[in-house]
Amino acid sequence: MDYKTLKPFPEGFLWGASSSAYQCEGAYLEDGRTLCVSDTAPVPEGTTNFNDGVDHYHHFKEDIALMAEMGFKEYRFSIAWPRILPQGCGEPNPLGIQHYHEVIDECLKHGIEPVITLYHFDLPQCLQDKYDGWASRQCIDDFLTYCKICFAEYGSKVKYFLTINEQNMMVLFQGDQYKDKGGVWQANHHMLVAQAKAMILCHEMCPGVWIAPAPNITAIYPASSSPEDNLAAMDWDQMRNRLFLDTAVFGTYPEALWQRWVDQGIEPKDVTEDDMAALRDAHPDFIAFNYYGAGCAKYVDEEEGQRVIAEAKAQGGRVAFMTGLMTYPGIAANVSNPLQKKTSYGMGVDPVGLRVTLRQLWERYRLPLLITENGCGVRDELVFENGEPRIHDDYRIDYLRQHIEACQAAITDGVDLMGYSPWSAMDLISTHEGISKRYGMIYVDRDEFDLKEMKRYRKDSFFWYQKVCKSNGADLA
Ligand code: BG6
Repeated sequence: MDYKTLKPFPEGFLWGASSSAYQCEGAYLEDGRTLCVSDTAPVPEGTTNFNDGVDHYHHFKEDIALMAEMGFKEYRFSIAWPRILPQGCGEPNPLGIQHYHEVIDECLKHGIEPVITLYHFDLPQCLQDKYDGWASRQCIDDFLTYCKICFAEYGSKVKYFLTINEQNMMVLFQGDQYKDKGGVWQANHHMLVAQAKAMILCHEMCPGVWIAPAPNITAIYPASSSPEDNLAAMDWDQMRNRLFLDTAVFGTYPEALWQRWVDQGIEPKDVTEDDMAALRDAHPDFIAFNYYGAGCAKYVDEEEGQRVIAEAKAQGGRVAFMTGLMTYPGIAANVSNPLQKKTSYGMGVDPVGLRVTLRQLWERYRLPLLITENGCGVRDELVFENGEPRIHDDYRIDYLRQHIEACQAAITDGVDLMGYSPWSAMDLISTHEGISKRYGMIYVDRDEFDLKEMKRYRKDSFFWYQKVCKSNGADLA
C-alpha cells in the first residue's frame, strides 16, 4: 500500500451484496410470472437452467435475515419485469407487485437499504417475440410503463434505483442477434433513451430518490506502449465504457466512436429531437458499476480481428463468449494480460485495476460511485466437521479483501465511493456456468440437477465479511 495512512471508510458506507431476480428467485412460472429472454436462452451442456434458481422467491426472509446477521447496510437485487407485467406491458400482476413489497419491507425491517435494479437481463420473452425487443422503439414505452409502476409502488420506501444492469455487456455480446451492426447500435440507442426517460420519470415521481445506470466498467490497459495500442485502448474505452456513461451523464455520444459508425454507415439512423432532449435532460445521481478485472486492448486490422473471432469460436465456451464480446475488427481486440492473475474459471483478478477504474470514473464524471458487483466465482466444497457444515473459502476472502483495500486506497485518493456490494449475497446460478460456479457468502445446498433441500449454510467468508461490515471496513484481517 502506497499511503502511510489510509482514510477510513466514510460514515454510512453501504456494505452489502448483490443478486439478480432470474438467477436466484426460481418460481419462474409461479404467481403469474412469465418467461424472460434469459429463461429461453440455450443452456450450456452439464449446467442447470434458471427455472429453480436458489428459490430465493420462497427463501427471501431467511436470506435477508442472514444478510442482517452479516451486518449488511444494503442489499442490491432486481425486480423481475415479467413478474410485474406478465405481458411486458398492459395489465400489472398484483401478486408480483406484492412480492417485492414484501422483500423491500423485509430489508427495511432489518435496517437494510434496498438498492433496486429495474432490469437485469430479463426482458419479457413476449416482447422479444412481439417486436424483436429493443430493436423496436416500442420497447422504450413498455419499459417506462413498467418503471412507472415500480416508482409508484416502491418509490416511497426505496432510496436507490438502478436502471439497466450491464447494458454494455448485453449489447456488445448479444449483438449477433441483430441483422447487422447498425441494428445493434439502433437497439442500444433505444435502451439509452429508455434509461434517460426512466431517470427523468423517477425524479418527477419520487423527489429525493437517487437513480443510476449500472454498466460493467473496467479500465482498459494498452497491450503495449505502441501508439496504435494506446489508440486501441482509447477506442475500446469509448466503445465499452464511455458509450454507456457519457450518454447517461453528459447526454452525448463519444465523438470518435460516432464518427467511426458514420464512416461505416452503421450509426443509429432513427434518432429524434425528443431522444436527444431526453439524453440531455436526464441526470443520474450517482454511478453504479460492476467490476471483475481490467481489460487489455491491442490494435487489430479488419483481417486479424476476424481471424481472432473465428479462432475463438472454434474453441467455443467461455473463450468464444469473452473474445466475441471484446473484439472489434479494425479497432481493437481484447487480449489476455500476462500480468493479470485469473480465477480457476479464467476471470481476471486485478484489485489495482479497480482502483484505476474508480479513479478514472471519479475524475471524469464527478458523481458518487457504488460498486454493485465484484466477486470470485469458483467451485466451493461443502464439508461436515463434527456434524457442522463448513465451507472454507479462504480464496474468496483473499479476493474480497484485496478489492476492499483497493477501495480504501481510492477513497484516500479522493474518490467519492458510496458502497461496496459484491456478487453475490447467496450462491445463485451463474449466467453461463450453472450453480457450480459459486459467488455467495451464503452457501445454498443444491447441485446442477439435484435440488436437494436448498439449505443455507454460512461460509467462512460469511464470518469474515461480518467483521468487515460491523467494523465499517476497519477490520479486514
Ligand atoms: C455480471 C452480471 O456480468 O457478472 C451477473 O451482472 C453475473 O448477472 C456476474 O452473474 C458474474 O458472471 P457469471 O457469468 O460468472 O455469472
